[in-house]
Amino acid sequence: MSNICKDAVTESHPMNGGDGTYSYTKNSYFQKSATNVARCMIHNAVADKLDISQLFSNFATSSSNTFRIADLGCSIGPNTFTAMQNVQEAIQHKYRLSQSRPHNSSSSSSLAMPEFQVFFNDHVTNDFNTLFSSLAASERPYFTAGVPGSFHGRLFPSSSLHFVHSSLALHWLSTMPKELVDENSPAWNRSKVHYTNAPNEVYKAYEAQFGRDMAQFLEARAIELVVGGLMVLIMPAVPNNVPLSQMPLGVIYGLLGCVLMDLSKEGFISESEVDSFNLPVYVVSPKEMIGIIERNGCFSIEIIELYKPMSSVNNGEITPLTVTMHLRAAMEGIIIKHFGTEIIDELFHRIHKKMEELSNQLQPRTKEGTQLFLVLKRKSS
Ligand SMILES: C[S@@+](CC[C@H](N)C(=O)[O-])C[C@H]1O[C@@H](n2cnc3c(N)ncnc32)[C@H](O)[C@@H]1O
Repeated sequence: MSNICKDAVTESHPMNGGDGTYSYTKNSYFQKSATNVARCMIHNAVADKLDISQLFSNFATSSSNTFRIADLGCSIGPNTFTAMQNVQEAIQHKYRLSQSRPHNSSSSSSLAMPEFQVFFNDHVTNDFNTLFSSLAASERPYFTAGVPGSFHGRLFPSSSLHFVHSSLALHWLSTMPKELVDENSPAWNRSKVHYTNAPNEVYKAYEAQFGRDMAQFLEARAIELVVGGLMVLIMPAVPNNVPLSQMPLGVIYGLLGCVLMDLSKEGFISESEVDSFNLPVYVVSPKEMIGIIERNGCFSIEIIELYKPMSSVNNGEITPLTVTMHLRAAMEGIIIKHFGTEIIDELFHRIHKKMEELSNQLQPRTKEGTQLFLVLKRKSS
């Protein structure tokens, strides 16, 4: 066997596992709202863009009647379960509709409803125990499998998936560009932990890494997805030509950097530790994504839309405390890996205080959306 399944070279930064106070399970309410808002959009995408007779006609000629869905970057739940239920319901609905319409030929009308199989993917370091414990406790109308590994490389056999879903995961970079920590490089990111408000060279290094990662992601999915299969990607985003510093995420990352610098000035950590730390996340614009997808060439862009995920969140729920808890559930692991555990409580206590001072900046300063909803279809080459 060749080495196609060797894990892609990638760093992993899992969300906080378990179900404790700082766990992702307890602090992923904002991500859940994104899943809820996307429900209707997924339903419409399946209704309008999934060619059910094309996909189901393959079942007529094969011994398998299984519709395979993958959730890439699923974390530990519970949002992934809601998302997978949404996808499955949309496909079943479309199938039933196609059954109720008159058909001329041997298309989907003569086929039984397929069985569904859902693959839950995340890094090997993800807390799959929590994921599968809660799955086992729930009733679900699909077969399941866990697929550990990086979605920047191959995960599935050729032409084996019919639908790929990934929500709020693709902004994580596989690795950090070396020049960010090279004192002799113009991209040395001194005293900062992200490209927000940093020199342009720093931004360019992040942008290039994201481009490489997405190219690998699309290359792998182009092999794994059947022709006509759909891919729904949901990502944090900036409107075209708007700097991240004007968006709440930019404010939050900037604030994390400032608090770390304060801690270094007070001797809790060294300045060089801050200089060598960079958050591996990149927030893309629609224009950039279009360019990357077109360069890959294997997918048609069926839907691309910036939307407002927080429209379903009660304004009172976006408080400095909830934002701090969400940040902690997502970033604690990577911060501990670099700085150790000693500063964690103090760090997030200070971040909470600073967020209280800056709470007016936690709302976007643009009327456009902050999340990208993309539907891609695998072309026939
Ligand atoms: C913010 S969580 C989102 C989880 C879930 N999709 C949701 O909406 O609640 C991002 C997840 O992506 C995973 N992730 C990041 N990079 C990845 C990669 N290269 N391969 C697989 N999973 C990855 C992280 O480990 C994390 O669990």
